[in-house]
Amino acid sequence: MKTPYIFATANQKGGVGKTTTAITLGSSLSLFGHRVLLIDLDPQASLTNHLAVEPEKLEYSVSNVILSESFQPDDVIINKYRLKTGGCIDLIPSNINLARIEAELSVSKGGGLRLKERLKFLPNNYDYIIIDSSPALSVLLISAIAASDEVIIPVMSDFLSARGVELLLSTIGKIETAINIKCNYKLLITMFDRRTNSSWKSLDYFKNKYQSRHFNSIINIDTRFRDASLIRKPLTYLDANARGSLDYINVAKEIINRLHSEIKGVKDE
Ligand SMILES: Nc1ncnc2c1ncn2[C@@H]1O[C@H](COP(=O)(O)OP(=O)(O)O)[C@@H](O)[C@H]1O
Ligand SMILES: [Mg+2]
Repeated sequence: MKTPYIFATANQKGGVGKTTTAITLGSSLSLFGHRVLLIDLDPQASLTNHLAVEPEKLEYSVSNVILSESFQPDDVIINKYRLKTGGCIDLIPSNINLARIEAELSVSKGGGLRLKERLKFLPNNYDYIIIDSSPALSVLLISAIAASDEVIIPVMSDFLSARGVELLLSTIGKIETAINIKCNYKLLITMFDRRTNSSWKSLDYFKNKYQSRHFNSIINIDTRFRDASLIRKPLTYLDANARGSLDYINVAKEIINRLHSEIKGVKDE
């Protein structure tokens, strides 16, 4: 396995679980002893806020990483959690400055590849990096996709979302051609409502249509995610037995098994 393995969350629709996936998957991977760096690439800074970091008070942020080759990793990386498992969560936070950088990147040549280049200057001691992207088809999304090994597309299980995924995939296709990259993506069904017939129907639709291009694990609706965001802590740290935690832990296991990494201290089901 290449170190680090880089994920990006992507969906131009807001409120589908991108940020929740970045945080909860990241913290689930850390429970298995993995070192995880989360990068907030959304000017709205939800990920930063969710990890109890105040965006307005930041001296340095992801903008410094994008702007300068000579940024100091120690300035921009916040060590958030250190676990007994040896796992950790670090954060490169974001704030509204990123909106200004976004305008700059979109008019500069190769702007969408800048983040990918800059990540080479980060310390090489992470197992996973997860980039949380903004809900727009913008240069920030291009940056996240270009920098990642794999794009996770969180999608709600309804037919309206199916249209949105098609639009996203067609945009990804254009990005691949424009900047000559290959995007490896997987859908992750989020906020699954077991009680409704239509959820099950659209789940079947997604499974048939995207075959191996979706995670086998799905994320159920769990109101505890709201508690976690109010307390500003990952749900898996708040309550590892909550439905939502168990779901993301299953996604983490799927990833770890697929990437042939060692599972430390936790037995597979
Ligand atoms: N599986 C889930 N069940 C219930 N609520 C969820 C779930 N996943 C996310 N949420 C909630 O939905 C809202 C939007 O999620 P978020 O991750 O911020 O979406 P995005 O980053 O795509 O805008 C948040 O309030 C979050 O707590
Ligand atoms: Mg978000």
